[in-house]
Amino acid sequence: MEIVSTLTELQKRIHTWKKQGQKIGFVPTMGFLHEGHLSLVRESKRRSDVTVVSIFVNPKQFGPAEDYQVYPRDPERDRALLEREGVELVFYPPVEVMYPEGYKTYVEVEDLQDKLCGKSRPGHFRGVCTVVLKLFNLVQPDEAYFGWKDAQQVIILQKMVEDLNLPVKIVPLPLVRDHDGLALSSRNTYLSPEERRAALVLKKSLDLAEKLMVEGEREAGRIREKMIELISAEPLARIDYVEIVDLKTLERLETIGDQVLIALAVFIGRTRLIDNLRIVSGGIEK
Ligand code: PAF
Repeated sequence: MEIVSTLTELQKRIHTWKKQGQKIGFVPTMGFLHEGHLSLVRESKRRSDVTVVSIFVNPKQFGPAEDYQVYPRDPERDRALLEREGVELVFYPPVEVMYPEGYKTYVEVEDLQDKLCGKSRPGHFRGVCTVVLKLFNLVQPDEAYFGWKDAQQVIILQKMVEDLNLPVKIVPLPLVRDHDGLALSSRNTYLSPEERRAALVLKKSLDLAEKLMVEGEREAGRIREKMIELISAEPLARIDYVEIVDLKTLERLETIGDQVLIALAVFIGRTRLIDNLRIVSGGIEK
């Protein structure tokens, strides 16, 4: 496995693979890898000739009061995990390679970027889209793999790819949960044992939504109310949002239909966690 940090080294490798007609799979990450990331890597390995993983904690997607400085990092462990998965190339650039002095260009996906997480994290998706477009331009992947854990990110990136006619296919994959149902996230490491237990309330609220829908409830407002009631009963939890929206437009729904995203963000102590379930062609995925 090769690890490169400069644009020249990366582009040289990519150029060779392109000339050989290799299918390039790409998994962009911010490191501190867990089974969720590794599931994306394995799918890329299965579907592509070569797999590139980027590790870059992107400062442009963190707000000024957010956790950029303390975001967990463990490059040695990440390297060992990716080596074990048989990844061909890791792109691990320093900030000044991605954003040299005088950097001025940004990508925005209007409207979608301002909803759900975008409301409480202004500028977040602008940062995500900007770095992902830059990485796509550098890596030139045939397919790029993202987890449904960040459902809004998937939906926004799909729109960016469509609107900008990018020659890459976004492949979203199921979110991966811990043994007790907590969605895997690098930020879970911030949780104390007591908070870790309290964090299960996110998944429990989605289980409740599922149960209500299976029992025939179709009114989104009523499902949302019950979820809020359940989460509010957990003393360590503070709701950022609980929303039931259309899976493409992220517009609020009154009635449960065929393409639905139930998404929530909840602070457990000081840690903001997200989770979701999706209804795709009438079937529930979570
Ligand atoms: O999902 C993430 O880890 C990040 O948002 C991404 C896609 C790597 C962009 O920095």
